[in-house]
Parts: sequence; C-alpha cells; structure tokens
Amino acid sequence: MSHLLTKEQLWDEHKMDWAGCEECPLHKTRKNIVLGEGDLDANFLFVGEAPGEKEDQTGRPFVGRAGKRLRKAIKKAKFKRFFISNVVSCRPPDNRKPTQGEVSRCGLRFRQLVEIIEPKIVIVLGKSAGEAIFMRFPSIKRIRGNLMRTYIGRNQYTIVPTFHPSYVLRSHDEEVAELFENDLILAKKALKSAT
Ligand code: URA
Repeated sequence: MSHLLTKEQLWDEHKMDWAGCEECPLHKTRKNIVLGEGDLDANFLFVGEAPGEKEDQTGRPFVGRAGKRLRKAIKKAKFKRFFISNVVSCRPPDNRKPTQGEVSRCGLRFRQLVEIIEPKIVIVLGKSAGEAIFMRFPSIKRIRGNLMRTYIGRNQYTIVPTFHPSYVLRSHDEEVAELFENDLILAKKALKSAT
C-alpha cells in the first residue's frame, strides 16, 4: 500500500492517538500503555496477550521473564526485521486474562498497528491472542505447526500459531521448548513462500 505519510509518521501519530486511551477500564490501573516496539518495516509481527508488570512499568512489550524467553528464541532463530506487540495494550490487574470487552475495545488499536506495519507473517503467541484475532481458536497444542490465513483489518495475513513463552517456561518441558523454537523456524520458512 502506498501511504502519503511515512511509516515513522504513521507510528508517531498512532502513539499520540492512543497515549491517553480510556476506551476500557484497564486505563484506570495501568502505569503505561504498551503499544509495541520493533522495526516498522518488520516482516514478522509477534503478538502476545497483554502487558504484565514489567511491561506496565516500562511501557515496553515482553521485557519480563516471558519476554526474555521470547527474545532468546527470536535471537536463536536469527530474525532480522520483527515487531512485538499484544492484542491488549494495558496490563490487566493481577495479570488476569483480558475480558472479551477489553480485547474488542483494543481491537481498533491493534488493527491500526497491523495496518501500519503490514507484516508478512503474524506469529500468534498463545490461545488468548489467537482468540482475539479469530474469535474461535483451538488449543495451541492442536493447531501449532500449521499455517493459517485470516484478515486483520483490510488485508489477509499468514498466521503462525505457537505457544505463549510463559507456557514454555511454566511447562519445564524440553519438548515444548523445541516445538516453540521449531514454530519460529516455520515462520521464517513461511516468509520465503510469502515473498
Ligand atoms: N505476556 C504477554 O502476553 N505480553 C507481554 O508483553 C508480556 C507478557
């Protein structure tokens, strides 16, 4: 798509537009809104559920324990241009799962993000992020290892579903860790067929 504004300008506008968002009750308890970070020309968009405590404190996505695990896998798989965000941009109290209402009120913000980045591949981290994008979503165990396609906003995207990195940590299961890392390799292979 050709834009009159550059991606940097669109992203700056996006940040200004959402900085004071009060669309849902999560704004009352958040310290910082976490819109995402990475390469605006990213081929890959990693999408998690919602910020946790560290993310809320810093305003950056995936910087806590789960984030370290995710970033380690991203480094190992040698991703070059990627962006990281969440389907919900404010921390739910006590890290509870965001409600359907919170997810849907954050939907416009999420779709705008995707339309700015226009990634080639969207990597869905966990069932909760999958449900926000697809409405109905099978368990990650069942669906992972497969490529999916769906619309986000105006365009269709290739989706790679995989485990949430906090599940990878919690499970203490080498096999889960290996499957998670294999899924990231699948995402890289999917880029080759998408371009
Ligand atoms: N978990 C998520 O889903 N997102 C984050 O940004 C951090 C932890």
